[in-house]
Amino acid sequence: MIELKNISHFYEQNEQVLHDISLKIDEGEFLFLSGESGSGKSTLLSILSTLLKPSEGELFLDKTNVNDIQNIDIFRSDKIGFVFQFHFLINYLNVYENIALAAKDEFKQDINSLLEKLGILELSKRYPNEISGGQRQRVALARSLINKPKIIFADEPTGSLDSKNSKIVYELLKNASDAGTTVVVASHDAAIEKYATRTIKMIDGKI
Ligand SMILES: Nc1ncnc2c1ncn2[C@@H]1O[C@H](COP(=O)(O)OP(=O)(O)O)[C@@H](O)[C@H]1O
Ligand SMILES: [Mg+2]
Repeated sequence: MIELKNISHFYEQNEQVLHDISLKIDEGEFLFLSGESGSGKSTLLSILSTLLKPSEGELFLDKTNVNDIQNIDIFRSDKIGFVFQFHFLINYLNVYENIALAAKDEFKQDINSLLEKLGILELSKRYPNEISGGQRQRVALARSLINKPKIIFADEPTGSLDSKNSKIVYELLKNASDAGTTVVVASHDAAIEKYATRTIKMIDGKI
């Protein structure tokens, strides 16, 4: 379970972008964080995923205050998968190698079947600059799913995809959530709503 208590956030020299947000997310939920551009979705997702420390308030993961977690990097790489709009693939590694680099030994055998599910198996020997933006996005998704994390955070995961490819991404995230993974997706694409178990709308830094 993920719990936010009274989270507020200010970027330096900026006005307040999150206002006193409290939220509980249960295990296996598929939470859709909707809202217009600038409403604070990415900021909230960065805080939920422990990448950004909030100005005020507390974050609990599995009832543990993240401030009390000794080694947050290990915790993060163990339990959390990320998909961001600006995915960071390594340009001198091919598609397969980009995922293999992230995969734990026990999951390396699953890489090809995951690429096949995502419709990008035939691209496994290509380099990131030899595939389209939408294909790169699917590689980034494969990389986030390969270790079967307990929680997946996705920020605009279909930002550069057409509706057919978006559907593939949503269905994969939905499968992960049906298998017990908690999924939190921030997007302005309302099409996600029918996959989500709950939708939260952000308006001007409030939910
Ligand atoms: N790194 C940053 N530094 C300063 N201001 C930021 C930063 N990131 C976002 N903001 C501001 O915070 C507000 C919320 O942005 P964001 O969380 O990215 O919203 P969304 O993802 O819904 O578009 C916006 O006004 C944005 O300009
Ligand atoms: Mg955003």
